[in-house]
Amino acid sequence: MATPQVLHTVAEMTALRERLTSEGKTLALVPTMGALHEGHLALVTRARELADVVVVSIFVNPLQFGAGEDFDRYPRTLETDVVALADHAEFVFAPDVDEVYPDRVGGASVPVQSAGPVGETFEGASRPGHFDGVLTVVARLFDIVKPDVVVFGQKDAQQVFLVRSMIEKMALPIRFEVLETIREADGLALSSRNRYLNEEERTAALALPHALLAAAREAHHANAGAVREVGRSVFENYPLVRLDYLDLVDPTNFQSVSDDYQGPATVVVAAVVGTTRLIDTENLERLHA
Ligand code: PAF
Repeated sequence: MATPQVLHTVAEMTALRERLTSEGKTLALVPTMGALHEGHLALVTRARELADVVVVSIFVNPLQFGAGEDFDRYPRTLETDVVALADHAEFVFAPDVDEVYPDRVGGASVPVQSAGPVGETFEGASRPGHFDGVLTVVARLFDIVKPDVVVFGQKDAQQVFLVRSMIEKMALPIRFEVLETIREADGLALSSRNRYLNEEERTAALALPHALLAAAREAHHANAGAVREVGRSVFENYPLVRLDYLDLVDPTNFQSVSDDYQGPATVVVAAVVGTTRLIDTENLERLHA
């Protein structure tokens, strides 16, 4: 395998899918917004294990950015992304916005997906409409690419929950694979947005993995209420960081759990470092009342 072939149009992507189907080959899709890092490459490596051909989509989706968010400054690095994908993926699908949303130029309308009540909590509470935008583009990409398998990263735990729910609700014939978060040596989760951080902010950003670690340690002997408090209290040591939320959710419904909840839980955290919003997550095997 060498440098991936870049497809820019829905017509090119459809022709590829049709050819692969006629050859009896399976296709794995890794949806991204580009600015690829090792975390993305790990998703692509997993995708390779699951299908004959890997397509990485690179599309900065305007629908999932709110007013005043970083849509304009979001890094667009297609050339280096394609180089990074050499020997990893056969194809990159990098459409223009009019290809994804033809209704913008008078073409067929794209149904807007609603993320429902879960889409209005946590990330959705701070970023209204974000998950409707995510699900709309993901459904559209699924429709265009028609993947057999898709691979997502666990770091965006709420996105993972909502995409999985959408696949189930729409009974899409797609295997949904989720890969653990890839971290720097000091624990910071890899994110395309880490490149916004200056040195001081990069150090302060460790508040997120430190809080997750403290919460996970507390979970060995304390209940959900105490775990939550311990996680939140870590942020008191990081004046440069503004905690948005740190909570424990039931992974089956993404609802915040009660203090005496027993069972598996996911810690979700979001914080703003300087002007950069970061999220992270950790699964806890079992909480005790
Ligand atoms: O996780 C992301 O990078 C994006 O939300 C996704 C899934 C590619 C949709 O734009």
